[in-house]
Amino acid sequence: EKGGYPYFMLKEIAEQPKAVADTLIGRHDGGSLQLDEVRLSDEDLRSVDKVIVIACGTSYHAGLIAKYAIEHWTRVPVEVEVASEFRYRDPIVDRDTLVVAISQSGESMDTLMAVRHARKQKARVVAITNSNGSTIARESDAVLYTHAGPEVGVAATKTFITQVVACYLLGLFLARVRGTMYADEVSAVVRELSDMPEHIDTVLDTVEPVRELARSLAGCKAVLFLGRHVGYPVALEGALKLKELAYMHAEAFAAGELKHGPIALIEQGLPVIVVVPSPRGRSVLHDKIVSNIQEVRARGARTIVIAEEGDTAVEPYADSIIRVPQTATLLAPLVATVPLQVFACELALAKGLDVDQPRNLAKSVTVE
Ligand code: M6R
Repeated sequence: EKGGYPYFMLKEIAEQPKAVADTLIGRHDGGSLQLDEVRLSDEDLRSVDKVIVIACGTSYHAGLIAKYAIEHWTRVPVEVEVASEFRYRDPIVDRDTLVVAISQSGESMDTLMAVRHARKQKARVVAITNSNGSTIARESDAVLYTHAGPEVGVAATKTFITQVVACYLLGLFLARVRGTMYADEVSAVVRELSDMPEHIDTVLDTVEPVRELARSLAGCKAVLFLGRHVGYPVALEGALKLKELAYMHAEAFAAGELKHGPIALIEQGLPVIVVVPSPRGRSVLHDKIVSNIQEVRARGARTIVIAEEGDTAVEPYADSIIRVPQTATLLAPLVATVPLQVFACELALAKGLDVDQPRNLAKSVTVE
């Protein structure tokens, strides 16, 4: 059942183009969206004055990406919170709050408890999950399923990518109902989303140098990750994968925070992986991150840069460049995350570790 791969994780990484395509199928008709599953009335969706995303681990990172997209498209404020913290801080939630609970398994106890708390306060809850009939799916007002297929590896890969897709769909849907986007604007994003399986395929076809790089770094003690905008949650996800699979100290920072402390960590030879935003989108951010790459390199870091095809500005400061296809800025996590999954997986394999069953972890965490 591993389809010829030695590990489920390798198979699941390879399945991502299909998982994205399957998550989009039936939910758009060329341009217009069809999200009948979001069974809330238009009136309810129009009265939403705040979105709160609750999730844990990798699903939380999907939520962080969702914040950028949903706020941009709908102009509704979005908070993202680790589910285990949510109910203990007396959160401000009422019937105009839309809670989005993201959980691959649909069984994470922390997320379930947060859902129950939100519903008690009369919030409407939309679950994004990969598990049909799971507890969180049953206890939510509506469910948006990711169609990633079963994920066996403990590390979330294809389910993460499809959670991000589901969040985009939800954001676009809300934007249509609330009138913050025109139909043709939504169609344009949907078209770009439909191209993503092909782009992910391109990344997977060109990922061999990432494997080599990972093997060459298997002896390192720590790796830092930097990102900005949607690249920041991608960096967090890259670091989490490395921790859980390779048992390595890995930390991610918003690149702008470097100068506020973390730059003191930089020493000779420390690998720093930088997720670079497109120079075509928010070019100010691009230029700033190029300076960050320069800064850490000047202090001895070994810079590994994930940059869009055609971005030549990073070349003078990158010890290694991992290329990803050009995409819309908000959708870039769907391609930029993939080399980081491969990197963590390969590095763990080089250390002789079992990437499907990392120590101390369970696929679904059903205790609080
Ligand atoms: O099933 P869930 O999405 O609720 O799980 C949340 C986390 O436990 C999960 O994402 C965990 O961080 C993964 N092992 C990450 O690869």
